[in-house]
Parts: sequence; C-alpha cells; structure tokens
Amino acid sequence: MTAKMTDTRIDLATHLDGAALPQGLSELLALVASACVDIRKVVSGGALAGALGASGSVNVQDEEQKKLDVISNDILTDQLLASPLVAGVASEEMDNCQPAPHSGGKFLVLFDPLDGSSNIDINAPVGTIFSVLAAPEGDITDASFLQDGRKQLAAGYVLYGGQTMLVLTTGNGVAGFTLSLDGQWLLTHPDIKISADTKEFAINMSNQRHWAQGVQTYVAGCLQGVEGGRGKNFNMRWVAAMVADVHRIMMRGGVFLYPWDKREPNKPGKLRLMYEGNPMSFLVEQAGGKSTTDGRAAILDVTPTELHQRVPVILGSANEIDIIADTCGV
Ligand code: F6P
Ligand code: MN
Repeated sequence: MTAKMTDTRIDLATHLDGAALPQGLSELLALVASACVDIRKVVSGGALAGALGASGSVNVQDEEQKKLDVISNDILTDQLLASPLVAGVASEEMDNCQPAPHSGGKFLVLFDPLDGSSNIDINAPVGTIFSVLAAPEGDITDASFLQDGRKQLAAGYVLYGGQTMLVLTTGNGVAGFTLSLDGQWLLTHPDIKISADTKEFAINMSNQRHWAQGVQTYVAGCLQGVEGGRGKNFNMRWVAAMVADVHRIMMRGGVFLYPWDKREPNKPGKLRLMYEGNPMSFLVEQAGGKSTTDGRAAILDVTPTELHQRVPVILGSANEIDIIADTCGV
C-alpha cells in the first residue's frame, strides 16, 4: 500500500484555521512546528550532522548537555525570538528566560528542546515538548513564565521516531500530524483519545528501591499479573524519552510514572513542571486521560514557584490512574 498524500489531506494551518484561537496563535504554532522540522533534519543527520555526543557543558540542573540539546535549543530560541509574536522564551537548557529583543510580542514559549537526549547516540526516539502562555504586560522576566498549567494556551510535542509526528492541543481535544516526505504537517490523527483502561505501565524499574511504599505496592500488583489481586497480566515499556512513552499512551493507553523518590527528597521528582509536566498534562487531560503528582492532585493545579521546578509525574489511562491513587492511599 502506498502512503501517497492527496490534496484532500488537512495540513496544520488549515486545521488551526478552523479553531477559534487567540490572534496570532496559529502562526506561532506553525513557527514552532517549522523549527521542529529543522531539528528533525539534524536528528536524522546524526553523525553526519555533527549531532552525536556530549557538548562539554552542563545545564542548570547540572546535567551533561548533549550536542543535540544545545543545537535544538539554539534552533528554537533563534527562530522564536525573531518572531514579533514572541515576547520571550524559556528552556530546560537555559538558566534564565530570554526576553525578545523587540516589544509587543503576545506569547511566551517554554520548551524542552530535545527530550530523551540520552537516546540520540543510540538512534532511538527523541522529541521536543513545548508550552505556550500569554505574555503579561511589562518587562519579561523569569517570573512572567510562572503561570499555572491551566493557563496554557497551547501545548504539544514532536516525536522524532520512525515517523515524525506533532501532537498538539489548543484546549479543544488533541490532534496528531505526521510530517510528510515533502515537509508538510498533515493531519493523520484528528481526535486522539487515551483509552480509560490499560494493561501496560512504564516506569524506570532500576529506581524501585527508592520509591515510596504506595508506588512499590502498585507496581508489585502489576508484576503479580493474573496471580495477584489485579487478576490480569501487565506489560511494561520504558523508552527513556518521555515524548515516546507519552505517545505510546496516546496511541494505545497505558500509564507512565516518574514518581517522587527518596534519593533527593528536596527535588520532588526528576521531570520539570514547566517544560514537561505541564505541557504533557494539558495534552493528556485533553485526550481524556489523567495526570497527577501522586494519583490525585492534578499537575495542572501545581502552582509554579521556579522556572526549573521539578514535579513527580503519574499520567495516562484514567481508570488506571484512579487505581494508582487508591493504591498509593493519598
Ligand atoms: O527529560 C528527562 C527524561 O529524559 C525523560 O524524557 C525520560 O522519561 C526520563 O528522563 C528518563 O529517565 P531515566 O534516565 O531515569 O530512565
Ligand atoms: Mn525531557
């Protein structure tokens, strides 16, 4: 079967035209999507594009930056700050926000430019995650970005996998676009819904001894399969790139946990609220799933206090998240 595109396919701009969005938002999203096409080119080039290996620097979280983290960050930052629509950007890979060199921008954009970057050197999936907020009046500082997740105007991710896909919400459901060979984002998944039930979980099992008791109990119940109280067998997957793990959940259900653990009690989890937790939670809720810190409290209700704040993340199929909440006893 050929995957020949016909003129009847809906592209990103046409899809967004049909939505009642704040003025300029659809152009901004087209710009983000276009920057991600440029990131895709570097990802695909791999060693040929000088994209593999460490950059020799560390980010604000003291994590080693890969070359591709830095390249992807530069692509998004340069292209977005050149747009009159943008008032400022903030990134997992930059210590502080960068206000635009012009005034009058209406939007703030936050991003994890290359999620799962430890996958790049092994040619496994990586992604970009982004979140769009309204710019407040006045000078743009880090504090301008500290807005509740429910204030996001749009959020999405691009998965650089076997197919390059953009999955997007503007608060009215979730749509998925596939990048065609001639560089167009075409609507292939018009209304993504996460199944309420699942038999699949995703967690980094090597951290088991550090988890709180509730998560231990929940995962033990999954591992017991038909012999345990759940009475069904579970499958486990862990791509080690949140974008890829969340995309699997979008496509066929499941739960993803990067829970609080006791290694660094002052850092409540590994993932970042502003660049990972909030945008993914907006997408997951819009697809009918749930996204919480502990099974109950919604990530979108966490009040941000710092740009690089961390958060425990438990998200996915709604009924399974309820079971996690009950098991964790919160
Ligand atoms: O961005 C952080 C991240 O790379 C996520 O994409 C991924 O889910 C997680 O960390 C992987 O963590 P670990 O290295 O513990 O498997
Ligand atoms: Mn990430």
